[in-house]
Amino acid sequence: MRPECGTIRAWGILRTERENGGYAVFDRLQNRAQALLDRTIDRTALERRLSMALALGVIVLALLGVWWWVASTGGTRGPYLHAAYLPVLFAAVAFGLPTTILVALAATIVVGPLMPLDVETGEPQARRAWLYRGAFFVGIGGFVAVATSLLRARAERSAELRHGLADTYSRNLKMFAGLVESRDEQTHGHCDRVARNGVAIGRRLGLDGQSLGRLYWAGLLHDLGKIGVPEAILHKPGPLTDEEFAEVKKHCELGRTILLNVSDHFAPIADGVHAHHERWDGKGYPRGLSGDAIPLFGRIVAAADVFEALTSRRPYRDPLATADARRVIEEGRGTHFDPAVVDAFLVAVEHGEIGFEADTSPFVETPIESILQPDGIGMDLLVDPWLARRSGASD
Ligand SMILES: [Fe+2]
Ligand SMILES: [Fe+2]
Repeated sequence: MRPECGTIRAWGILRTERENGGYAVFDRLQNRAQALLDRTIDRTALERRLSMALALGVIVLALLGVWWWVASTGGTRGPYLHAAYLPVLFAAVAFGLPTTILVALAATIVVGPLMPLDVETGEPQARRAWLYRGAFFVGIGGFVAVATSLLRARAERSAELRHGLADTYSRNLKMFAGLVESRDEQTHGHCDRVARNGVAIGRRLGLDGQSLGRLYWAGLLHDLGKIGVPEAILHKPGPLTDEEFAEVKKHCELGRTILLNVSDHFAPIADGVHAHHERWDGKGYPRGLSGDAIPLFGRIVAAADVFEALTSRRPYRDPLATADARRVIEEGRGTHFDPAVVDAFLVAVEHGEIGFEADTSPFVETPIESILQPDGIGMDLLVDPWLARRSGASD
């Protein structure tokens, strides 16, 4: 994590208080100060050195502790000299082969020439005894060090592959989002706002990071299937005929199919895309599901989608005022929309977390990146400054 001093944080807070005009200046100042701080302090290297120094300190203390323990229990005639394996194995896990050999040699000396067989009589150990023991320290410690290094290298390679896979997934989904956007120029920014507002609602419903990430993609791609709807129907200025509307309805199923064809990992996202035109009372499409049978992402995206569409300008109508659009969502509570989703939406609106087309705050500038979860199957959301700012201001 990048270090952030108090002054820089203060700039960030001040920045949010400014209108768009002042925003860029404060943004530049913060970026410059952060870059200067990054150059001055390599926090990662410093932390690494500190933790290595700490680990070495633990090893030295452990060796001294073993020496004291063995000496106070009568010498190497007693059973406690085997405690010397502890610092050796710790070094093997923490540092690798060269340091392990050094620690093994130190342990050999601590419970070897420096330690009599019997402390009371002062009888020394046979040289052969502590030499053999030292060979075991080096051999076993070395084996553990090499095995640990191999396992670590394999884990790092696996993490790299997972990261690459996540990146590929992310690029695929972004490419789809770009396709939807380029297909329907009238609704520029619609999908992005639906996605972000959906996340704001999801947060208010208590969803966690991984679910929020999937919800974001479900919102961004909810109309993905429209790439299969004929242009003449999609951009028709007047009302649609029944046949044309039947064509439009197919976009839910098509969006789901496309996503599942790319990867089964997208199933939760595909479910949300499939269900974003279902209604709580069962009068929606494509399957006429009702209540909790509708996937949660579909219920959330449905509310975010309608609110965004109402508050956006279209060639054939002016945008609705946000208060009026909010009333429409409220009136749909329990009929069109899930009551819990409407409640969460209203809380999010109250806290300024719901964006709309005429909103002048710079929330659409920050890209939301995706990462793969440790389980290797999910896309996650790196909560962006916009979300952090809005929820931080309200919580
Ligand atoms: Fe749709
Ligand atoms: Fe939409």
